[in-house]
Amino acid sequence: MTVDTSEIVQAAGVLRSGELVAFPTETVYGLGANAEDPAAVKRVFQVKGRPPSHPLIVHLSDAAQLDQWVDAVPASAQQLAERLWPGPLTLVLRRSRRVPLEATGGLETVAVRVPAHPVALAMLTEFGGGVVAPSANRFGAVSPTTADDVRAELGDAVDLVLDGGRCDVGVESTIVDASTEELTILRPGGVTREAIEAVLGRAVPVPSTSDVRVPGQHPSHYAPRARVVLVDPEKVVAEAELAQELGHRVGVLLPAALAGTTVKAQAVVPVPDSMEAYARGLFGYLREFDKQGCDLVVASLPAEEGLGLAIANRLRRAAGPRMEDHPSN
Ligand code: TXA
Ligand code: MG
Repeated sequence: MTVDTSEIVQAAGVLRSGELVAFPTETVYGLGANAEDPAAVKRVFQVKGRPPSHPLIVHLSDAAQLDQWVDAVPASAQQLAERLWPGPLTLVLRRSRRVPLEATGGLETVAVRVPAHPVALAMLTEFGGGVVAPSANRFGAVSPTTADDVRAELGDAVDLVLDGGRCDVGVESTIVDASTEELTILRPGGVTREAIEAVLGRAVPVPSTSDVRVPGQHPSHYAPRARVVLVDPEKVVAEAELAQELGHRVGVLLPAALAGTTVKAQAVVPVPDSMEAYARGLFGYLREFDKQGCDLVVASLPAEEGLGLAIANRLRRAAGPRMEDHPSN
């Protein structure tokens, strides 16, 4: 699980030759390609099975490079970059000419982030340029948080997988549209809304997901094969046992308040009390339910504050109506 210098040099070479590298970030594993190589960027979409209209995030080694990739950096964006990078924050800004339209799905804005992971930073520094990287999963599926998850999802389709162990944050970056001074949070994630508001000294809205029109923000995303149903915490056990009795193979995300309760179900994962631990584990739990052959997952939403906002967002999407082209349909 350790990555040595020779592998970092190799990864930079793979990126330069137009091939793909899966690499760890503090949030989830990314599927990386040279942002300035349109053919390599196209391969990312092919391997993921993702529509080319869905924009990618450009990863940089240093906030000082931001100027080269975006047209203008409004004061609020500058403040957020200074205070929260490296870290699980993505800023959407107007793109510079350096960003090919293949990477932005044709948009005039680009999403940029500096990840806080030693392996990602070493690779980006050695490579020198920007690396586009969506989460290293098939379109619509749960994001990978270990190198084994990446291999299980993408197999031989990726040229090199850097194994940096389990991702520490476990949910994707928070995406902030900072292209104007009226900032909005497009996707809650690893940096909390509270942390962003503390830096800016003002409230930042999180539009409900149904209001977000950006390609790539489907109602169903981050979904395991099993169908996910959300119920009130006090109904989790009864709902799960009923479904199991009706012949389903049920996976249960048991709320922390119910720790120790016995549930007759296929698989029971007690949810950790701390939101940090819950976020770190979440995608692994969903993958585990699939491995155990569950066809139904019963869960409830945590309080939507701090990291709970991102966890609730991922659970809602996992429970959302499935995309037509989702493999489970
Ligand atoms: O934590 C993360 O952000 C991970 C790691 C690998 O960095 N990456 C990730 O990428 O989650 P992906 O492709 O799975 O999600 C990126 C999302 C897109 O689905 C899209 O909604 C949004 O970023 N996005 C990208 N460019 C955008 C733009 N120009 N305007 C608005 N949203 C954009
Ligand atoms: Mg993704």
